[in-house]
Amino acid sequence: MATKTKTLWFCTECGADAPKWSGRCPACGAWNTMVEERVTAKTSQKKGTTASLRTPRSTPMAVSDLKTGTEQRIPMPSHELNRVLGGGLVTGSLVLIGGEPGIGKSTLVLQNTLAIKSKRILYVSAEESASQIKMRADRIGRDSENVYIVCDTSLDTIFDHIENIEPEIIIIDSIQTIASDDIESSAGSVSQVRECAARLLRYAKESNVPVILIGHITKEGSIAGPKVLEHIVDAVLQFEGDRHYMYRILRSIKNRFGSTSELGIYEMGQRGLREVTNPSEMLLTHSDEELSGTAVGITMEGMRPFLIEVQALVSTAAYGTPQRSVTGFDSKRMNMLLAVLEKRVGFKLAQKDVFLNIAGGMKVNDPALDLAVVGAILSSNVDMVIPRTVCMAGEIGLSGEIRPVVRLEQRLLEAEKLGMTEIIIPRHNLKGLDTSRLSLKITEVSKIEEAFRALFA
Ligand code: TYD
Ligand code: MG
Repeated sequence: MATKTKTLWFCTECGADAPKWSGRCPACGAWNTMVEERVTAKTSQKKGTTASLRTPRSTPMAVSDLKTGTEQRIPMPSHELNRVLGGGLVTGSLVLIGGEPGIGKSTLVLQNTLAIKSKRILYVSAEESASQIKMRADRIGRDSENVYIVCDTSLDTIFDHIENIEPEIIIIDSIQTIASDDIESSAGSVSQVRECAARLLRYAKESNVPVILIGHITKEGSIAGPKVLEHIVDAVLQFEGDRHYMYRILRSIKNRFGSTSELGIYEMGQRGLREVTNPSEMLLTHSDEELSGTAVGITMEGMRPFLIEVQALVSTAAYGTPQRSVTGFDSKRMNMLLAVLEKRVGFKLAQKDVFLNIAGGMKVNDPALDLAVVGAILSSNVDMVIPRTVCMAGEIGLSGEIRPVVRLEQRLLEAEKLGMTEIIIPRHNLKGLDTSRLSLKITEVSKIEEAFRALFA
């Protein structure tokens, strides 16, 4: 077989290839993402052209003649994982679990595979030795006769093992560390990641065996990130969280077999990951002392409402330029809110240091948290306490108006459930909602000044 080697340039963002280098990817427009890789010619044969000629011819069918095949799902032991997958792992699907190194991807997958007793599972570890995996399994406190561990990085050897063991679920940990012998470039390069994923995809579809890929998200894409894989796989789950905190969020970014607004929450502990069924309780501090500078907001993450504590510290700037420091919230958005406070309510914050923190290491994008952010900043600025049983939700517009939020009903129910006594919400947001059964006091506001009066009057 001819093995002519040629050099191609690949984009680490989108995986597009080009015959020559350019500063900007011609496909996705990202800057400085093109990397050089050597590709041997025989791979291009394997990549589908000849294979697709051999596959049986397809026949077009009318939609009315199609049958809704109920896809078979393998239920996962972890309830949260199950829900994020849309009700279980679909047979023959290719699922990518991405996340930063050390976040707990291997733990999540190992914990689940060890708990499935009825299926034969092949766990390919291309990163860690078998004894390291055994140590992790001991830590989790689980054991299984049906999970086979193999430590190998060659895709061709992995396929040999698959043939021998005939697993019913395959785990690849991680896709960036395995390599196909057909391609000259090193493991983790765009062409390797793409080729390995494509071959595993073909295997999954032909054999109806689900394959779970673990992938690292890399900063600045020096190794091909899971981005390259997103359009190949059936589902992309992202495992996120701050390594210094215990909470981990499993988010579905793409799912051909379920909703992408599902979300699972875990806590990393001494004995592996534990499911968190009531996140709000975990995120609120349980202290009796009431302090200024904190406000409780209600955000939605996917379909789930959360109560979250926002903390702010406003103090006179010690140096010429005031400091602005934000964790867990968009700093540009905070600056915008500070400008609105300055312009509309007349608070002189330009000469003040402002520090903002979302408790628990969460990162929040929901604009409904604006009101709590402003509440916390004002509370610290005037040094007045907002009672712990008061919570709020509302987006703030540039002219200081409080804008309606989505899924208000769920937010109200969550607030009630967690023993809040009062909630501040945007005016006219309630329309059509029956609040007669709630014991919560509902205060409606339409402007930031009104919210200020409601909080500190
Ligand atoms: P790991 O699953 O190896 O992360 P990834 O595969 O995403 O790189 O686990 C990461 C961290 O979790 C590691 O620093 C150790 C910690 N950990 C615990 O705190 N408790 C446990 O029971 C386990 C297994 C790991
Ligand atoms: Mg790992």
